[in-house]
Amino acid sequence: MTIIRTKNLTKSFYNNHVLRDVSIEIPEKSISAVIGQSGTGKSVLIKTIIGMLKPDSGEVWFKDKELTALDQNKLLEIRKCFGYSFQNAALFDSMNVGQNLAFPLEESLHIKDHQKIQKRVKEILDWIELPGIELKRIDELSGGMRKRVGFARSLIMRPEVLFFDEPTTGLDPVLSETINNLVVRVNRELDITCVLITHDIPAAFRIADKIVFLDQGYIVADGSPAEVAVSDHQMVKDFIKISFSELKV
Ligand SMILES: Nc1ncnc2c1ncn2[C@@H]1O[C@H](COP(=O)(O)OP(=O)(O)O)[C@@H](O)[C@H]1O
Ligand SMILES: [Mg+2]
Repeated sequence: MTIIRTKNLTKSFYNNHVLRDVSIEIPEKSISAVIGQSGTGKSVLIKTIIGMLKPDSGEVWFKDKELTALDQNKLLEIRKCFGYSFQNAALFDSMNVGQNLAFPLEESLHIKDHQKIQKRVKEILDWIELPGIELKRIDELSGGMRKRVGFARSLIMRPEVLFFDEPTTGLDPVLSETINNLVVRVNRELDITCVLITHDIPAAFRIADKIVFLDQGYIVADGSPAEVAVSDHQMVKDFIKISFSELKV
């Protein structure tokens, strides 16, 4: 089953044509990875899907609803089904961990029941294997813990689809592995559809069910890792070759 579909999306900023005729399908309860060079439109594609950017033409569908045809209020309502974890997603330094996690429940879901909120916060901290840190200040956390709390914050709304924009960029290999494993657990244990933009091509081939390769706003490969691995497209071939040839031992 397809949960998200785009049809012929185009998006320009003045004369910078960022997305050109992008049609993709995201299968439900899968992990889809979007890869490609920097500046090639990956973030713009995701922002257009979740409605943060308006396409010049084309359509975005979520299940049986065309998001690009909805008014702002209806779009905001549907967007509660989406979670997103952007690069450098900032936590509020002036609040503790528990308050940071409670924030989306109070502000977006308008949950007022204090005990219910505490329970959800505890559950999510247990799930990311950082139990009992509700009262810690954000600046007391290590970089890795911060990353995981940021992750928990995008998860606490129990989204149907979770978008990650380069969650491992700039992290050391051990922490990258932790985050990639969390993405897999989110998908497998919580049945959440994950859409992951990543620079880590080996990780994408390891954890994704589907890979979408974007080059200068065009989809140049789209399929299972096995299908994309044998793509005829020169750019895709080069990119994969470089990504897997770094090992010199
Ligand atoms: N809000 C914006 N206004 C103008 N140009 C933008 C905006 N967002 C992205 N761009 C441009 O769109 C292109 C693609 O950007 P982006 O999707 O962020 O690339 P990436 O593949 O690295 O995520 C870049 O040329 C970028 O400068
Ligand atoms: Mg980007």
